[in-house]
Amino acid sequence: MPKTVETVIKGGTVIDASGTRVADVVIRGGEILEVGHGLEAKNVIDASGCVVAPGLVDLHTHLRQPGREEAETIETGARAAALGGYTAVIAMPNTEPTMDSAAVIREVLDHAITVACEVVPSGAITLGRRGEQLAPMAEMAELGVRIFTDDGSGVQDGGLMRRALEYAKGIGVMLAQHCEDNSLAAGGAMHEGAWSAKLGVPGQPCSAETAMVLRDIELSRLTGAPIHFLHLSTAESLAAVAQARAAGLQVTAEVAPHHFTLTDACCCDYDATFKVNPPLRTEADVEAVKAALIAGTVDAIATDHAPHAPELKEMPFDQAPPGMLGLETALGLALTELELPIERVLAYLSWQPAKIARISDRHGGLIAKGGAANLCVIDPNAEWTVDARALASRSRNTPFDGRKLRGKVRHTINRGDQVVIDGVAQQ
Ligand code: DOR
Repeated sequence: MPKTVETVIKGGTVIDASGTRVADVVIRGGEILEVGHGLEAKNVIDASGCVVAPGLVDLHTHLRQPGREEAETIETGARAAALGGYTAVIAMPNTEPTMDSAAVIREVLDHAITVACEVVPSGAITLGRRGEQLAPMAEMAELGVRIFTDDGSGVQDGGLMRRALEYAKGIGVMLAQHCEDNSLAAGGAMHEGAWSAKLGVPGQPCSAETAMVLRDIELSRLTGAPIHFLHLSTAESLAAVAQARAAGLQVTAEVAPHHFTLTDACCCDYDATFKVNPPLRTEADVEAVKAALIAGTVDAIATDHAPHAPELKEMPFDQAPPGMLGLETALGLALTELELPIERVLAYLSWQPAKIARISDRHGGLIAKGGAANLCVIDPNAEWTVDARALASRSRNTPFDGRKLRGKVRHTINRGDQVVIDGVAQQ
């Protein structure tokens, strides 16, 4: 449908940060024209039995372009995102070359112009993510970059991290930390515990994560700069974050679906599909992640979508790269596995991450006249089975192949374009 044609999304339950109601939504040219009852338009999307929500926002997506296009491209990753209900993803900077300069950020933005969702690049904190010298954050911020991270690894040097926080505060951007102390985690291929001992695989202790979380909470207190913690996985680090927030510090945090659905026991067959960083932890940690989501002491569910080519994931467990796909399964996993009403699941997947990414002007906003037509239509009762071969991602490394889920995206609307219709990508 050309953008100038009006489309009505009819008969759905509209859910946004302001609440829940049954309404029709008329869109045209990338904008919401009207929300009300009995609305008509030339093009009709039937949303009866479905939820109409602001598009989802992923704070943590690895798109692999430039450098690893055999695993994913900006185009294939954005298509996977749209199928998962996302209208915006934050692209992580551990590409080859690293997204640590205006030139590489510009390259990513150029590739993202026509893809199925908005791709918002993050920038590296240090040059080449080597943890030695600060990257030129200001020149990247000029291109709209608002989140900086060395994700894939944490900034090890506390003094450098302090300077980075002070600098980021000065130019009005935020740092996001991958919490892993290398001196404790190096050489570990899975969680250090009963399973790593049994399997004879070197482990990473929970303390490797907790130590960096505690250090950075102190650095946020010292500098007055906000900090976001990526993919938290341990009961102890979640408790530390809850305490810091209660003390009024500017600390936000995300958790990933695999950390509330899978444990280290999944590694029992040495299948590297289950290798991820931070690693799958114990049942008690999984319960702590779920409890934090119920308590509201974390802000977002983020996928850590990390595509890897099959030949790499087929390597021996200790040598294979960490990471798993996430964009096409996150919503279904959250709706199926969390004892939370859909309103709260959507808050974690849409408007709360949109705020952290500072893209609330166009994502995760209220569904009201004048708002951006970045929307998704979800059938919360649809049951489906994950099929790794059917995913739009260029890679196949999902640990959820064969898993039965409830809740599926039917339509996604990106800047007024129907990029997913009845579960089928249109571009
Ligand atoms: O499992 C992971 N994979 N964790 C990370 O932090 C990086 C990611 C990747 O880039 O593959």
